[in-house]
Amino acid sequence: MIYKKILAIESSCDDTAASLIEVHDNTFKILAEKTASQIDIHKIYGGVIPEVAARAHAEKIIPLIEEVLANEKPDYIAVTSGPGLLTALLVGVETARSMSYLLDVPLIRVNHLEGHICSVLLDQKEKNEYTMNLEFPAICLIVSGGHTELLFMKNYGEYERIGKTADDAAGECFDKTAKILGLEYPGGPKISKFAKTGNPNAINFPRPMIKENNLNFSFSGLKTAALYWLRDHNLSAMQINPMTMPAGIFGQSQSDDVTIEDFCASFEQAITDVLIAKTLRACKEYKPKTVILGGGVSANPALRSRLHDELQKLNTDISLRVPDISYGMDNASMIAVAAIHHIQKQDFTPWQNLAADPNWHIGE
Ligand code: KG4
Ligand code: ZN
Repeated sequence: MIYKKILAIESSCDDTAASLIEVHDNTFKILAEKTASQIDIHKIYGGVIPEVAARAHAEKIIPLIEEVLANEKPDYIAVTSGPGLLTALLVGVETARSMSYLLDVPLIRVNHLEGHICSVLLDQKEKNEYTMNLEFPAICLIVSGGHTELLFMKNYGEYERIGKTADDAAGECFDKTAKILGLEYPGGPKISKFAKTGNPNAINFPRPMIKENNLNFSFSGLKTAALYWLRDHNLSAMQINPMTMPAGIFGQSQSDDVTIEDFCASFEQAITDVLIAKTLRACKEYKPKTVILGGGVSANPALRSRLHDELQKLNTDISLRVPDISYGMDNASMIAVAAIHHIQKQDFTPWQNLAADPNWHIGE
């Protein structure tokens, strides 16, 4: 392959993003990338409203593409076509279909989770010189607002789903608990900020399914345990955001020594304990050369550092790959990178056949 340009489009949830990368064999660099976050819109509602997200995507997507293309014609167009919110995905997919038809360039459908996996290749931001340098097999822990999955990856494009959540995703559990605390959406980063100075052993939250002999997760019970703990201990959320404090949940007096920082640290520790325990279990079973941590929750510093330490203790040569912090959240460059192996395999989708697929799971 000689210097080909891939335009990638991402609109699966609450970020509209476009990226243009240049690929040469197994190396690539980012020429331009743009993301329009919708957080300011969705925080009014305390979560993502699909119709509102779709409208905002429709407003932003063409200006973003125009900006990253800067009058260049791409050689390929890659687009996230699932999983995600149907109305949101449709905006990116229909834009990509139209462009592929009008410009007569091949189209690549990319799975959002494959994008998060490939985001770990974007870890040399200063140099802007990247290679497809993953060592296989790999265990991928993908943790975001919509997903908590463990995948066994034999090669690019070869996945087996070995673990999933029975209910809430890890990021969703962070966000819902943060909402109970009166913190703005998305609450994950806010909880992790409080957690930095708290005592992780202050509250013994449940670690759902941690001892079960499988690689699955469940987080809805942990969120409920957090809610009940706050109710039973009269921890006041007044200090955080009195305007959004749900009536009847918190008492007015702080009868306990536990602070909001302790609460957040203990809650974070419970989630990360489960995520790490299951990943280590997967490593023992599948003996990977690499562990990949991807998705928005990969920005959590406790998860990053504790997973790193625990893998070291295993005494193997497993290397941990995490994305640069700016590529952990949804972005289009990771979608462009995920498209590279599809292009090498000439795995294109005619524009007539491309459809948004909100429940597209890889490795099933
Ligand atoms: O991958 P992403 O940008 O969007 C989805 O595909 O869902 O992930 C967003 C999620 C949100 O739930 C957000 O609260 C969570 O990632 N998140 C964090 C942190 N930063 C983002 N969760 C915990 N700690 C963080 N530092
Ligand atoms: Zn995502």
